[in-house]
Amino acid sequence: MDMKQKVLVTGGTGYIGSHTIIDLIQHGYEVVCVDNGSNSDTSPLQTIKQLTGVEVPFYPLDLCDLDASEQIFVDHPDIRGIIHFAALKAVGESVEKPLLYFKNNLESLMNILTLALRYKVKGFIFSSSCTVYGDAPESPVTEQTPWQEAASPYGRTKQIGEHIITDTIKDSAMQGILLRYFNPAGAHPSGIIGESPINPPQNLVPVITETAIGRRDQMTVFGTDYPTRDGSCIRDYIHVMDLARAHTLALQYLFDGKQNQSCDVFNVGIGNGLSVLEIIAAFEKETGVKLNYKLGPRRPGDVVAIYADYSRAAQLLGWQPQFTVRDIMSSAWKWEQYRTQLMENSLK
Ligand code: UD1
Repeated sequence: MDMKQKVLVTGGTGYIGSHTIIDLIQHGYEVVCVDNGSNSDTSPLQTIKQLTGVEVPFYPLDLCDLDASEQIFVDHPDIRGIIHFAALKAVGESVEKPLLYFKNNLESLMNILTLALRYKVKGFIFSSSCTVYGDAPESPVTEQTPWQEAASPYGRTKQIGEHIITDTIKDSAMQGILLRYFNPAGAHPSGIIGESPINPPQNLVPVITETAIGRRDQMTVFGTDYPTRDGSCIRDYIHVMDLARAHTLALQYLFDGKQNQSCDVFNVGIGNGLSVLEIIAAFEKETGVKLNYKLGPRRPGDVVAIYADYSRAAQLLGWQPQFTVRDIMSSAWKWEQYRTQLMENSLK
């Protein structure tokens, strides 16, 4: 019997979701996608078809609508796994609109869990974040590092989300894996799919590439007086295809029956802490493009430094990062140039 196992990817037209769909298809999974289009259009689905030859069934639905979302499972009662990316993720916006974040991120999570249990889904993977550690006293952080107060309502939705999942599936036949991402960046090596949000990106690498291509006049380094080697914040930048791979491996781990407990948790970062200024220098070196940046004040809610101990994912999931910071920069730049070309052509 060589039946492909079916996986529902929520938030599948977004940045990490779309890259994960590619990895899943390339590793023999059948994918169904749902997205409410709040921060992405459906063009990644066409690119996925171009890259893999597969047309992914797509539901343009909001998971906050439980009844509408049930249609996915009526049409595909054989969904065995769910990878739940769908969520709002702008830290600053969450400070201004906390209820929007709690309502959207938690209601959609509770609905998808309700459907997962109703339709006897076997494995559930959740997009958690290193933000659950808050302002960690030291790095690298392990999965055992105690949580600090979340720095934003967004961060709190990830903390609460982890609790909701753990409590909900405790006595069920479904098993869960919480993946705590560090800072995803870069694009598929083809350069024809990458991060393409509808709302202006706030994250460092897309801000860098948008500045380099001239869509922004100048960028700001948020804070140069942190207690770090050069005064700017330190993060763990992980290539989006390495992160995608972690999801496929996590799902396989559950399907292979390798997990003993009901719910487990893994850090997914590459363990290499780099400062904002080092990232800017890496971009300039890799691409030969000079960035127009200025040094500015701290951004509220930022933590000083955080990077991962990923030995648990290495040991249990067999996950190892394959891409370097140079790969992140070259692929992000390739994608920025490609998508700018696409946008210019569509204006002609
Ligand atoms: C944050 C969250 C992360 C979340 C992600 C989603 C924390 C600790 N992390 O990541 O959980 O998933 O947002 O969006 O809350 N920077 C600049 N100039 C810029 C943009 C960024 O200097 O124009 C700096 C930031 O101050 C920070 C670093 O670059 O030091 C990375 O920022 P960003 O890419 O926004 O990610 P995080 O804030 O680390």
